[in-house]
Amino acid sequence: MFDPDRFIHARAKAVDASGIRRVFDLAANLKDPVNFSIGQPDFDVPQAVKDAAIAAIQKGMNRYTQTQGIKELQTRITGLITAEFPNWQPASSKLRTPNSELATSFASLVTSGVSGGLVLALMTCVGPGDEVLIPDPGFVMYKHLVRLVGATPVLVDTYPDFQLTAARLAKHVTPRTKMILFNSPGNPTGIVATDAVCREVVKLADEHNILLLSDEIYDEFCYEKTPRADGSMKCPSPATYSDRILLLRGFSKTYGMTGWRLGYAAGPAAIIEQMTKLQQYTFVCAPSMVQVAGAVALDLDMSTYVEAYRRKRDTLVNALRPHYQITTPGGAFYAFPKVPDHLKLTGQQFIERAISRNLLAIPGNVFSDRDTHFRLSYACDDQMLARGIEILIDLAKS
Ligand SMILES: Cc1ncc(COP(=O)(O)O)c(C=O)c1O
Repeated sequence: MFDPDRFIHARAKAVDASGIRRVFDLAANLKDPVNFSIGQPDFDVPQAVKDAAIAAIQKGMNRYTQTQGIKELQTRITGLITAEFPNWQPASSKLRTPNSELATSFASLVTSGVSGGLVLALMTCVGPGDEVLIPDPGFVMYKHLVRLVGATPVLVDTYPDFQLTAARLAKHVTPRTKMILFNSPGNPTGIVATDAVCREVVKLADEHNILLLSDEIYDEFCYEKTPRADGSMKCPSPATYSDRILLLRGFSKTYGMTGWRLGYAAGPAAIIEQMTKLQQYTFVCAPSMVQVAGAVALDLDMSTYVEAYRRKRDTLVNALRPHYQITTPGGAFYAFPKVPDHLKLTGQQFIERAISRNLLAIPGNVFSDRDTHFRLSYACDDQMLARGIEILIDLAKS
């Protein structure tokens, strides 16, 4: 008898998606819900980016590309990184010292979304016996991907302010610690790491010989930018303080192109070289026409969208503050308030109650060992935001 279960490895079975599935099951019958559960922008791909992808398809850009990405996109990425982080030297740079090229110069790799970059980075750098420090709360994929490659995720509690500080990390460092997954602006909290936190975490990683992976997929959605050496205002990043980190950035959120699957990794050339080799034998390359369109996207100014989200954040936080314990998110499009204590409900129970009022959000236990908070995504139109705020205030009073 054919028993499919026999063929499903424990590795797949170990991934528990029940928390989020439960929410979506409950939500399946909602009519016109206030949907605060969505992890993507509510704007569409800019027309110029769509046009570029369509033109690329028409011109025959439909074949495999070089694994590392098409030259025009690679060149743009190198340009962006060297402009933002003057301490980073491209592997092709004449400035490099010949013997240390692979140790200190950087290379980049165009990936199938930041998710693709995460998979390749973890496959390249960690395995059984290694520990990977990840923020709690943190992006749902992290702990599962770490387990998929046979390593051990170690959750670092960041409540109540959600900063992944060096002091919090230090408590969990062991001789087996191989990597830190750093994510700012963060999902699910929207918290932006301060410059001081970035500097200290880089120092900790250096001292203990740990690889720092900085997932900066929300970097453009940053409302707490700080000045760089050249005076430009940017989101704080550990890459300002070290070129020995792995930097992952994406197009999904910035340009509303989550379905197009584009991102990039930049970091020490020797590591990127191995990731490129693994990409060759897994994803092969990021979608060809999307790479062409990605190079066009990088020239666009998305600041009006970002400003609109900043306003939505202010509206949400100001309205909820009298009723919820809420740390002001400095970026992304999420907030992570605490379920009011007097309700005596877990995050899951609170969301069930919210769903009964036609509002959908994600309970904290989907992202965390604790079930005391919930994630709101305010990437929606102002009307829905207003409706949602009204329901949330009502729920807090009930
Ligand atoms: C923190 C974080 N990293 C990575 C990703 C994956 O993004 P991509 O669409 O680029 O694979 C997401 C998506 O929600 C995210 O929130």
